Amino acid sequence: MTDPDIKKGLAGVTVDHTAVSKVNPETNSLLYRGYPVQELAATQSFEAVAYLLWNGELPTEEQLSAQTADGVRWAPLAPEVKAAIDQLPTDVHPMDEVRTAVSVIGALDLAGILSVLDAVGSPDENRARSLHLFAALPAIVAYGQRRRHGLEYIPPRDDLGYAANFLWMTFGEEAEDVVVDAFNRSMILYAEHSFNASTFTARVITSTLSDLYSAVTGAIGALKGPLHGGANEAVLHIFDEIGTAENVVPWLDDALASKRKIMGFGHRVYKRGDSRVPTMKAALDTLVDHYDRPDVARLYATLEREFVERKGIYPNLDYPSGPAYNLMGFDTVTFTPLFVAARVVGWTAHIMEQQAANALIRPLSAYNGPDERHVEGYVPDTAAIDVAERPEEAAG
Ligand code: COA
Repeated sequence: MTDPDIKKGLAGVTVDHTAVSKVNPETNSLLYRGYPVQELAATQSFEAVAYLLWNGELPTEEQLSAQTADGVRWAPLAPEVKAAIDQLPTDVHPMDEVRTAVSVIGALDLAGILSVLDAVGSPDENRARSLHLFAALPAIVAYGQRRRHGLEYIPPRDDLGYAANFLWMTFGEEAEDVVVDAFNRSMILYAEHSFNASTFTARVITSTLSDLYSAVTGAIGALKGPLHGGANEAVLHIFDEIGTAENVVPWLDDALASKRKIMGFGHRVYKRGDSRVPTMKAALDTLVDHYDRPDVARLYATLEREFVERKGIYPNLDYPSGPAYNLMGFDTVTFTPLFVAARVVGWTAHIMEQQAANALIRPLSAYNGPDERHVEGYVPDTAAIDVAERPEEAAG
């Protein structure tokens, strides 16, 4: 039997169309619904970009206000969600906390719907569910960080935008504009990136006609891995290990000799640099100035220079965002949950797109296990269906 043409990791495989975003590695560009992400980061709020990704167009002022007004009711931590989080030990990884919280929100919202077919929801219902998660996640992530420090939950404020409110709920003080701006940019840059592993996970789950909350819960699981979302926190671990710019060369010698992967570098699609890095690096630079931390800039630049020189592999978005979140005061373990709060927009846009033109995602596999064999002593029931006539893999 000839081996089928296996595309390990689905590398290079185009599985569907999408109108949500376009990643072009040749031109190092990323477009959200046609708009370059750098332009959006420089001019828009994260809320406006969410509207764009869900609806295809940037909002008018009225449309944005209406979306904000709709979302306000979901922004405070629901008592049932807080109770579920509080049942977890404070030393669980916050990604497990966030995954649990989203699952609880989904269960509560879908309570009373006992037909799985009805849980799929209409396009309007799914737009409302997307907004629900978008609005609810900041309080979940912020409270996660606070409770690890033994601090109380801080409710959201109606007078602050998304980014400022997120920082308020986390730190209990109003962030300065430069910090709000850097945070807003990071959320926009993380919001969407075509068929990455977590988005594809969400689309696979959606393709079975499962509901939006189940798809987002699964996507959070995929994002947790250090080859995907977990890389931003892994970058900080590396920075902590290296310590100062002077240690980069010996540290890298050791790391490469032991064939370690250097987190925050490399990308499945971009091979000559990640289109989002310059924008996030500029935001990091503003934070370095603001907090007067030239040591961070030196370490960043030295590791980048040395690694690119030796391996020809460029930084991805997690490389500048890790140290940026650290300077803002987020715990390292909170970084990937921040990514969830941003990427939930892309996931839900893709879920709605998948629902609108669904086909069950079910690839084939090439079996390489033992040849057919039989349980000792088993006497076949001759009346049973002839196994040889059953189509391959018909059992699911
Ligand atoms: N550090 C060291 N070596 C790396 C590397 C990194 N960050 N990224 C890729 N490489 C090397 C691999 O070891 C491999 O070398 P080899 O051919 O000698 O075995 C080669 O480059 C190809 O890597 P591979 O992992 O097959 O490429 P990929 O396209 O499947 O991987 C990533 C993409 C993102 C999984 C990979 O670059 C990686 O693990 N990066 C670190 C994690 C990270 O930052 N993830 C966030 C992505 S946004």
